[in-house]
Amino acid sequence: MGPKELVHMSPTTTLLSFLRSNGITGTKLGCAEGGCGACTVIVSKETSDGNVHHKSVNACLFPAVAADCAHVTTVEGLGSTRDGLHPVQERMTKSHGSQCGFCTPGIVVAISAIFANKPDATIDEIEEHMDGNLCRCTGYRPIWDSAKSLCSDAKKGPCGSSCNSCPERDDCDIEHLIPDPGCTPNNVGAAPAPANNVCSSSHEKFKSDPVFNKTFEELNHPSLPFPEELKGVASTPFVITNGSTTWYDPNTLDVLLDLKKEFPNGRIVVGNSEVGIEQKFKNTKYPVLIGGSNIHELKGISEDNENFTFGANTPLSDIAHFCESGSEGSVTWAMSNMLRWFASTQIRNTASLAGNLATASPISDMNPMLAASNAAMTVKSKERGSRSINVSEFFLSYRKTAMQPDEVIVDIKVPKTSKFEYVYPYKQAKRREDDISIVTSGMRVRLAPSPDGSQFVVAESSFAFGGMSFKTVMAPQTSAFLLNKPWNFETFDEARKFLALDLPLPDNVPGGQPEYRRTLAASFLFKFFVAVSLQIEKDAPPGAVEPIKDDVKSASESFVTMRKPSMTGTQRFPKPKYTPGLEDGTEKKGVPEPVSRPSEKRAVGKDSTHQSGALHCTGEAKYTDDIGLPTDGLEGCLIHSTTAGCDVKSIDISEASSLEGVVKVVLYEDLVKTGGNNKLGPVIKDEEVFGTKRVRHVGQVLGIVVAETLEIAQEAARLVKVEYENFDDNVIVSIEEAIKANSFYHMTDHTIESGDVAAAFDTPGAVVVEGKFRLGGQEHFYLECNTTMCVPTETGMTVYTSSQAPTKTQMYCASASGLPANKVVCKMKRMGGGFGGKETRSVFVAAACSVAAKIVRRPVRVTLDRNVDMQTTGQRHAFVAHYKAAAVMEGGKPKLLAMDVNLYSNGGCSLDLSGPVMDRALFHVDGVYKFDAFRCHGLVCKTHQSPHTAYRGFGGPQGIITVEHVVDRLATKMGIDATEFRESNFYKEGQSTHFGQTIEEGTWNVPRSFRDAKAQSGFDERKAEIKEFNAKNKWKKRGLAIIPTKFGIAFTAKFMNQGGALVHVYQDGTVLVSHGGTEMGQGLHTKVCQVAAHAFGIDYDKVFVDDSDTSKVANTQPTAASMSTDMYGMATLDACRQIIKRLKPFRDKLGEDASLSAVATAAFFERVDLSAHGFYALSDDRCGYDWGAVPDGTETGPDNSFRGHPFNYFTQGSSLSMVEVDLLTGDHSILRSDIIMDVGSSINPAIDIGQIEGAFVQGVGWSTTEELIWGDEEHEWVKPRGRLFTQGPGFYKPPAFNDMPAQFNVTLMDGVANKFAVMSSKAIGEPPFAMGISVFFAIKNALDEARKDMGVKSEELILMHPATSERIRMGVGDEISVVGGGGGGFQAKGSY
Ligand SMILES: Cc1cc2nc3c(=O)[nH]c(=O)nc-3n(C[C@H](O)[C@H](O)[C@H](O)COP(=O)(O)OP(=O)(O)OC[C@H]3O[C@@H](n4cnc5c(N)ncnc54)[C@H](O)[C@@H]3O)c2cc1C
Ligand code: FES
Ligand code: FES
Repeated sequence: MGPKELVHMSPTTTLLSFLRSNGITGTKLGCAEGGCGACTVIVSKETSDGNVHHKSVNACLFPAVAADCAHVTTVEGLGSTRDGLHPVQERMTKSHGSQCGFCTPGIVVAISAIFANKPDATIDEIEEHMDGNLCRCTGYRPIWDSAKSLCSDAKKGPCGSSCNSCPERDDCDIEHLIPDPGCTPNNVGAAPAPANNVCSSSHEKFKSDPVFNKTFEELNHPSLPFPEELKGVASTPFVITNGSTTWYDPNTLDVLLDLKKEFPNGRIVVGNSEVGIEQKFKNTKYPVLIGGSNIHELKGISEDNENFTFGANTPLSDIAHFCESGSEGSVTWAMSNMLRWFASTQIRNTASLAGNLATASPISDMNPMLAASNAAMTVKSKERGSRSINVSEFFLSYRKTAMQPDEVIVDIKVPKTSKFEYVYPYKQAKRREDDISIVTSGMRVRLAPSPDGSQFVVAESSFAFGGMSFKTVMAPQTSAFLLNKPWNFETFDEARKFLALDLPLPDNVPGGQPEYRRTLAASFLFKFFVAVSLQIEKDAPPGAVEPIKDDVKSASESFVTMRKPSMTGTQRFPKPKYTPGLEDGTEKKGVPEPVSRPSEKRAVGKDSTHQSGALHCTGEAKYTDDIGLPTDGLEGCLIHSTTAGCDVKSIDISEASSLEGVVKVVLYEDLVKTGGNNKLGPVIKDEEVFGTKRVRHVGQVLGIVVAETLEIAQEAARLVKVEYENFDDNVIVSIEEAIKANSFYHMTDHTIESGDVAAAFDTPGAVVVEGKFRLGGQEHFYLECNTTMCVPTETGMTVYTSSQAPTKTQMYCASASGLPANKVVCKMKRMGGGFGGKETRSVFVAAACSVAAKIVRRPVRVTLDRNVDMQTTGQRHAFVAHYKAAAVMEGGKPKLLAMDVNLYSNGGCSLDLSGPVMDRALFHVDGVYKFDAFRCHGLVCKTHQSPHTAYRGFGGPQGIITVEHVVDRLATKMGIDATEFRESNFYKEGQSTHFGQTIEEGTWNVPRSFRDAKAQSGFDERKAEIKEFNAKNKWKKRGLAIIPTKFGIAFTAKFMNQGGALVHVYQDGTVLVSHGGTEMGQGLHTKVCQVAAHAFGIDYDKVFVDDSDTSKVANTQPTAASMSTDMYGMATLDACRQIIKRLKPFRDKLGEDASLSAVATAAFFERVDLSAHGFYALSDDRCGYDWGAVPDGTETGPDNSFRGHPFNYFTQGSSLSMVEVDLLTGDHSILRSDIIMDVGSSINPAIDIGQIEGAFVQGVGWSTTEELIWGDEEHEWVKPRGRLFTQGPGFYKPPAFNDMPAQFNVTLMDGVANKFAVMSSKAIGEPPFAMGISVFFAIKNALDEARKDMGVKSEELILMHPATSERIRMGVGDEISVVGGGGGGFQAKGSY
């Protein structure tokens, strides 16, 4: 074939590894499986017509060799802070579109790719194509804002008004928007008008910067470059090898057939979205790979009278584009709709139909679609030529097809739909976007008038399903039954029975959910019947088919065929202002005047952009894994156990050690030789750096391999042979298994009791509810996995790590590697998200890495793969609550009497922070409600899961959702509206919580936030709207809930409420701050800069916060408990004040208008110290709770007050959510969410709103799509016991772009200054998380309505958490679900 030989690149190297290993680190690794979009780059190629087409692709899957003749643009190629930002980068920066910034380069590139092809792209087009990127921090709203502001039809700003074309834009101010419903079509007009409010989206953004006034097209930005040398160059064949794998890249079918003849087992690679996954995660080795993307005979689309013909390897995005003009019910319409929800834009840009077919996955989406459509494929071999195979006959058994190894799929012929022939696509997944199906189906029917012409009968039909067997299956009995039957309800009722016979899913089916899957298949059939009937009503004369009742019509819709939701909303906050807070009330009373004037420069209260915003957007922001490995550096790979509940018998490292490039395999014995301590743990030292004997969880670290390259280290780690023995008969995995086996961490067993619980239950007229509530865990899914690099120095070690706890990292690395703490420095620049997951668990990776670096005396870097990170580093604790609660009617209102609850959490195999997490759950299990008597008891279960850990809210959300579940049940039982019930039972000022803390006068804003949320959302109208909708729709229901929260601020361990800061003033008037906190996206450094700028009276951009560094600020606490601004803001102020005091004489001398530079220079020449260390410790009487305290009879405070005052104050708020549920599938969408939040006097409202939106959406994920599945007694198909099945974004589903509320309004309360924290602000990182549960209760509300409507008479619906599509669907309890195996009281399985 006359190939060009390329020798410098390995055929198995992905484009991502190639870029990153060449120092182009803006493109990030988030998952390596095409599921997060962090690695998105643009691949540009010239098309046959001479145009250049730009495609966003996942660099983690794209083989580097496949970029032959292509131009690759990474985020660095779009713009930079030095040479100017690309419009997308600029908008993202200014719209606060990044927090941790790790997802940002991928998102910037994905948006830019859309505008690169189409500068006049519309909002709809953007909304279609952001399905391949995840952001865990922002909640997506600001990203939507920035992308949409560039669209050609950017008529509506996020407030709903027409910002770009609004004549009043320049004077836009929310004051005049609020009273005018005309300007606020989304009903925010109903809100009370808080004084001095501005909207971050319209006012500041659109008024202050002219760049926001233009669309992308109007900006006339130069198009993406495409090098001259690539123009007119067609790809030519080449061969490339690395010794074990050879890549052939043919450009004709003939050569491909030759190659397949020579290498029948050679794998064709097109999108690599299957082959790449097999290589990476199944460790499949392919000696021969054959590039399939450059063969022109296999690409392209044509049509004749009968068929559409799709070239086998045509990118799916081209097929989707071709099909999008099909009319409803046609085969192209069905294909285009199915493809819209197939994987992601990035995957569709490269993946092929042939890849889908040849892989023969039982849950493939296109295979059932094609099979039902009667499609046929042409396959060809060198020896035997071409033949045609019907897609419906192509799948023989699990991943086995009718194709011979030497055959190649050439094309797929799809018959055109004829008159009265209809094809519909169906799919249900955990999440709508970028998710594989639970059940998927293509359904087709051809109708004909009956011989007497009186009705339509079925002339032909076919139904194909994925997810209902080990392969794509047809439903022949159903089709046979339907033949010649009239098209009416009766026929379809009957057809369901045949469908059940066609799809005999066993109860113990791998993948689980048999009842749901059976129910879905039948529900799809029903939807199909309704959809086709409505279509015939349009196509045939009136009366041709039985009319569909109005209230059933919406059953025809499904998310697959509906348009994607469009997002809008407002963010309102009081006009920037500074209110003196705690700093004004300390012993150093009186805020010193700033050094520099005028004071309008004061930075606090402004919505300044994130300190690193532009760096995030350009890819210049460096994360730990982006720091170049020194030339003598090595890569490390941890050796993990593959099972749990047994002893390690032996570890054989001989094969691994002898692999070329391996430098050392480090085990426990080696650690001992270095003088290290193998024991570690944050509260008690019950963990080991390297496992010695007992294996307690799958993924436990047994050692570490260090090698010249990551690939070698990973390969060697796989070659380590571990033998296990003494297996436990009973490997305890779940909470319920632990309760049965009495397996607990008794040392953390705590109870809080106040009032006479027994007596309260005996109150006459008391209504009692009792039961069990299960609530799930949650993976942090920070976009940046755990990573550490340890660099030995001449006396010790420098540790670069992605951790919320630099001091803990320093201490454990020192201890594990046998070094004194003063010779180990830990540096932390920024994290790509943490959310609590890097508070303690990151330390274990760092400790192992430090031991290896000490032993080999070379720098070592360890970066965990996503699946390893998820399996080993722990999650939010799952809980089970056993409760009994009572309420009574008093004065015509419901009154809470008593709560008695036992909380059990799944702590995993070591204690980690499970004790304090449980404590916080106990402190929050009262929600915002006053009970006469309260008893709560918490026990952490010891299981064989990985150790569970801190996660945003730290047990608080688990407590809050438990009490809300109880309140919801009581309200239902008493027949009272849940909102009214909640409102009647709020604490009042002066009352005391169950743990004895008084709700202080002037601090209780929950009732107001609740009222405001009702007003802002137009509560009464919404209820009326829901009532009307529900009456008109049998198979869709809407629901609503408002959830109030209070969240206690302070570390519950008293000693942790302390922090330090180091401030240097330089003679040029700039200021450098180092403090004990870490930046993980929450904007801590930005707020601290604002505080320091404010103190000195200088511009915000004159202050800089550098790395967190244990040699600058020592003995730090982990950045956690939302406390960091409170602590480091105060510590920074303390340092600033010391310097300001020293500078005062110079300022007095130089006059009020002297700059800081002038003052500092004058002081310097007088030998005045321009540096200071500041310190802050939260007042003794406002933190700490002594669980061991025993009353001595002298206490005068409320019950429990003698034990302490665990919280400094409460951050409060309320959130209303309204949802729509598809009862036939369990799909839901959030129609709107309104949040009212008391954040005190905000230091930076944009950052606070970002935290609120991001936390809320994370809380929504926890409550809906995010479900962890472990190998436990309810999931015996997961092997071995104790393994986490849901690893990586393929199986675990955080909310995606289109999951956020369609309308999302956030308002910061005005006039709620908080005298207990710095600058009168309030902590905000964690508190809004629990408000995401408003979506859970809104879903429950919709299901209650559905069950009422359906007349489901069996027991009350107890909706367990999270509200997955399965729980929602099976919660309806209708007849279809009963036949599927469910019913009124059915409970889906879960891992808790
Ligand atoms: C993040 C992610 C999301 C996904 N989402 C979905 C989804 O929503 N729905 C779904 O159905 N699938 C999904 N998939 C699976 C996958 O994307 C599809 O199966 C896709 O169609 C595979 O195409 P490809 O070109 O990438 O295949 P490749 O990985 O390149 O190849 C796959 C197989 O096809 C064979 N092959 C390719 N071309 C030919 C040919 N012409 N003749 C013979 N054999 C050939 C190859 O030899 C190989 O065995 C997803 C995958 C990922 C990674
Ligand atoms: S790293 Fe490529 S999609 Fe996640
Ligand atoms: S900013 Fe998107 S993941 Fe952090």
